[in-house]
Amino acid sequence: MSGRFSGKVVVISGGSRGQGASHAERLASEGAAVLCGDVLDDEGRATAARLQALGHDVTYQHLDVTSSGDWATAMAWCRTRGRLDVLVNNAGIIHVNPLTEERLEDWNLTLTVNATSVLLGMQAAVPLMRETGGGSIINVASIFGMAGAEGYIAYCASKGAILAMTKTAALELAKDKIRVNSIVPGGVSTPMNENEPEGGVVPLTPLGRRAHVSEISGSIAFLASDDSVFVTGTELIVDGGYLAK
Ligand SMILES: NC(=O)c1ccc[n+]([C@@H]2O[C@H](COP(=O)([O-])OP(=O)(O)OC[C@H]3O[C@@H](n4cnc5c(N)ncnc54)[C@H](O)[C@@H]3O)[C@@H](O)[C@H]2O)c1
Repeated sequence: MSGRFSGKVVVISGGSRGQGASHAERLASEGAAVLCGDVLDDEGRATAARLQALGHDVTYQHLDVTSSGDWATAMAWCRTRGRLDVLVNNAGIIHVNPLTEERLEDWNLTLTVNATSVLLGMQAAVPLMRETGGGSIINVASIFGMAGAEGYIAYCASKGAILAMTKTAALELAKDKIRVNSIVPGGVSTPMNENEPEGGVVPLTPLGRRAHVSEISGSIAFLASDDSVFVTGTELIVDGGYLAK
């Protein structure tokens, strides 16, 4: 399939559903070969089958982002395609508890799945990106990494860590022509927040709604493509105006 990502190879973590599945569809529709990795294997296989039926080059593979071994398996798949151009570190979990009640076990799990995973993903991807002359890494943060949110102490810490890691990685990898940026979504309608009370962030969002997943995918495609060739070490906020106040 021809398009902006024709001949490019993309890995998307958390690609079984929600935003990750939408990003896979968008990048594949512009010509990319996409590997979706997740721990939801049945959903991931179904997503890949749905996108393949549309003519897209999308493969599902089990990828627990907290496992270095699983990242190595993902990179082995990329080597069968000869390269890796784009990594979207999208997998994440939400965890709600006020700081006075936070349990170390839940804190550690949230930090490991949301933030340590980004380190592991970048460590896995960089050698192959270096071999093929560069790439684009997009780390999915959140408005809750830039602003406080009552009850979300661990989630906020994990997303803030992503913003900081992104800047350091961008500095270290610029010489390799590897760009590293964060995307900062506001509320997005996905299974992650379908049970949020009172519309979650919607009342605080000037545009008055959550984003559709495809509205985040457009910004992912921008950061993944050469349209953003001079953009590195920064955040792209896609939040319906939430952080403007
Ligand atoms: N939905 C929102 O409002 C919102 C807002 C800002 C940021 N985000 C972030 O966007 C990203 C995508 O979330 P979403 O909204 O699509 O929610 P989602 O729950 O639909 O998708 C998250 C995906 O990550 C996967 N995942 C969880 N743990 C994993 C692990 N250990 N290894 C591999 N995959 C794992 C899940 O199985 C799921 O498929 C997350 O990082 C989330 O924190 C979401």
